[in-house]
Amino acid sequence: MNRNVRITLHPSYDVLAATTAARLITRLLDVQSERGEATVVLTGGSVGIATLKAVAESPARLAVDWAKVNFWFGDERFVPADSPDRNAGQAADALLDRVGVDPARVHVMAAADAVADVEAAAADYTAQLAAAARREWDDEDGSGDAPAVPRFDVLLLGLGPDAHIASLFPEMSGIRSRGVPVVGVTNSPKPPPTRVSLTLEAINTAQEIWIVAAGADKAAAVGLGLAGASPVQVPASGARGVNKTMWLIDQEAAAKFPEQLMRRDT
Ligand code: 6PG
Repeated sequence: MNRNVRITLHPSYDVLAATTAARLITRLLDVQSERGEATVVLTGGSVGIATLKAVAESPARLAVDWAKVNFWFGDERFVPADSPDRNAGQAADALLDRVGVDPARVHVMAAADAVADVEAAAADYTAQLAAAARREWDDEDGSGDAPAVPRFDVLLLGLGPDAHIASLFPEMSGIRSRGVPVVGVTNSPKPPPTRVSLTLEAINTAQEIWIVAAGADKAAAVGLGLAGASPVQVPASGARGVNKTMWLIDQEAAAKFPEQLMRRDT
């Protein structure tokens, strides 16, 4: 498990969103210059969406070839497509409808009025991920079986006060899932109750995972997440990117974490 964990403190919520946006733009540019295209997994939640708004407002956004960015979602609320609760809709309003993305490269999780039930939505996303992974594998002349998910260059995660990430909640079946990339969630403690989520195994295939958290109500989750607790009890502690895991937090969310450990190679 990669131990390259970076913790960066930001003076305020707004600076956190703006800085994370700048990081994302730069990361997308670097990956595009290396590979021609880049892939980001978006998160719901206020900080995740605020980051997308900051990207849309940044002059630097014009440097990214948005038509060559692949967008996936870490989780989604299983509600009708036009519900304001949809992460896909919030991401579209914040960024995707404001830059020239290729709609074929925006992969949303099925809405409640598009498929029979949440398990069908999980199966649909599993198939979308597998098809993209297969295409990538064939393009790169991979031998043998393609992986279950395509390459994720950056995977964004918000953080719940209970240290949940995506829609993986402490002690619940989702965080315990093994061998599958996507699960249906039917009793989310965070409303709405029914959701679709990448599993921790799928999340941890990402080259870089960025956990973005702001506010005093996240301080305990940050402290526990960084203290190496069990992922079943503290899902965020299980998030580990292949190359890097960054905790991007504001002062309030860092309240329970010693300042001297803000930059830590563990
Ligand atoms: C969701 C999110 C969820 C969120 C956290 C943090 O769909 O609800 O994916 O994991 O990121 O709950 O949300 P806030 O940033 O709004 O506190």
